[in-house]
Amino acid sequence: MSSPVRPPALSTSLTTTPVHAASPAGAWWRDAVIYQVYPRSFADADGDGIGDLPGITARLDHLAELGVDAVWLSPFYRSPQRDAGYDVADYRDVDPLFGTLADADALLARAHSLGLRVIVDLVPNHTSSDHPWFRAALGAAPGSPERARYLFRDGRGPHGAEPPNNWTSVFGGPAWTRVTEADGTPGQWYLHLFDTSQPDLDWSNPEVRAELEDVLRFWLDRGVDGFRVDVAHGMVKAPGLPDWDGTTAMIDGGHDGTYGSEDGATGSGSAGPMWDQEGLHDIYRSWNRVLAEYDGDRALVAEAWVEPMSRLARYVRPGEMHQAFNFAFLTTLWSGPALRAVVTGSLEANDEVGAPTTWVLSNHDVVRHPSRLGLEVPGSRPNGIGTTDPQPDAELGLHRARAASLLMLALPGSAYVYQGEELGLPEHTTLPDEERQDPAWWRSGHTERGRDGCRVPLPWEADAPAYGFSPGGRSWLSQPDVFADHALDQQRGVPGSTYELYRTALHVRRERSLGTGSLAWVSGLRTTAGDVVGDDVLALVNRDLLVVTTVGGAEAVLPRGWEPVVTSGPTRASDEGGVLVPPDTTVWAVLRD
Ligand code: BGC
Repeated sequence: MSSPVRPPALSTSLTTTPVHAASPAGAWWRDAVIYQVYPRSFADADGDGIGDLPGITARLDHLAELGVDAVWLSPFYRSPQRDAGYDVADYRDVDPLFGTLADADALLARAHSLGLRVIVDLVPNHTSSDHPWFRAALGAAPGSPERARYLFRDGRGPHGAEPPNNWTSVFGGPAWTRVTEADGTPGQWYLHLFDTSQPDLDWSNPEVRAELEDVLRFWLDRGVDGFRVDVAHGMVKAPGLPDWDGTTAMIDGGHDGTYGSEDGATGSGSAGPMWDQEGLHDIYRSWNRVLAEYDGDRALVAEAWVEPMSRLARYVRPGEMHQAFNFAFLTTLWSGPALRAVVTGSLEANDEVGAPTTWVLSNHDVVRHPSRLGLEVPGSRPNGIGTTDPQPDAELGLHRARAASLLMLALPGSAYVYQGEELGLPEHTTLPDEERQDPAWWRSGHTERGRDGCRVPLPWEADAPAYGFSPGGRSWLSQPDVFADHALDQQRGVPGSTYELYRTALHVRRERSLGTGSLAWVSGLRTTAGDVVGDDVLALVNRDLLVVTTVGGAEAVLPRGWEPVVTSGPTRASDEGGVLVPPDTTVWAVLRD
């Protein structure tokens, strides 16, 4: 059970508002920092310019040294790679691009020997159109058991020439594709919420449920510590597949470039008949039972773009999933009141169901946060940035990103770090359009640049070909020149570098058990002029740490006696002698005796 919040003694002029109580140490995932590896872009061992499992294994020391607790691997299964592996043709094998099952076993063994847990991606909403099930469905007749694994329907209108409903694909264009029947006539339509190469499975079919449970066991038997469940809010559709005039985008607004919100709302179209249906929860309860048969606190993590937060928390009720990505935090604009609201709302909603809150700022689907925070509306979320788009202010963006990351790592719960964010990597905002591979780029008729800019291979060594990513000097997406400055070998051991900032923060976070800690907001901090700070200064205590984040031009002075232990940027002495936290900076401070 939780213990009462007992913030350390603050000066009498300060008041605290408790939000979340500390908890005793529990299962590893409750407070873990989990590092997302995007296999094709982490490290390439065989020199073909595409990252692979042996490349990851060889670089796992980096993650142990950084101080994370676990690794989440994006898909590495057999796949035609039409959506970078989120189109799985064989759930029980490794794609030759990335290696072999033996390589997966070696990766798991090495990670575990370094004390790192490993979560793998599970893609249950859809298979690849190359999956044997879908090939069989194409060759079988309407109404056959082969078609019943997917969502095949007759079309509407004369000769069934119109799609069965008006849904659109998340990547743009219609969500239905018509097939040609064996006799050569135009036939039924199948549903694909994503690309045409990603047909949706029919989760009301017991065979589908049995198959995916078997896939869970396949990987649990090999020793994985959990699953990140792709599109966890999409597998069950409303009966009758009714028309929907809202957007089908997981990330709503994806077509006007004005993402991000003041109140932490993701803007996701989660109200549609394809999202967040009640029937999902029964699936997760049965998966929970499968995991519970195994030792070692295996975990299920929901990738569910669902709001409000109370609705998302239903995925992590006891007996269901263990964590859900907090996209409301990721999509919140760089605004003090908005950040305060989303942190409070997230902790309160998850506390209601006894689940840890997660925190995330970047992943393989969104513009990297140092670039988002350098945009004219800091924290807004275009679907990719191209050469002809307004370019972010790289320096200011990185400065704010360091502050945002240090705030995130101070929060109780579990945090996700996307590969390269520990290097302060920006989005590749000038990637040549002809290199783009994201299906969103062509399905949107070249109106959405898509996600390639956050998926560029990592720079390890500034002076090596492909910045040390690949022994052959190749890289499946070209790396921008600025990656040289961000290479690991330019930052390791360099005080003040982003890498050393993350390493120190992760060390302090672990040492002080911040992940199982408490959160109380602190009010009453002063500006240099002696006025009480406004809403754009966030101040909180977690255990014995005072955390101050200044947003949007605001400054604050640390209360008397408090000294910085980690800072995202330079601080200086104020005229009265206290430590001044300049704009867009986070400071972790302790009270000196
Ligand atoms: C993944 C994306 C992928 C989509 C379809 C998402 O949520 O994170 O990268 O394109 O699911 O599988």
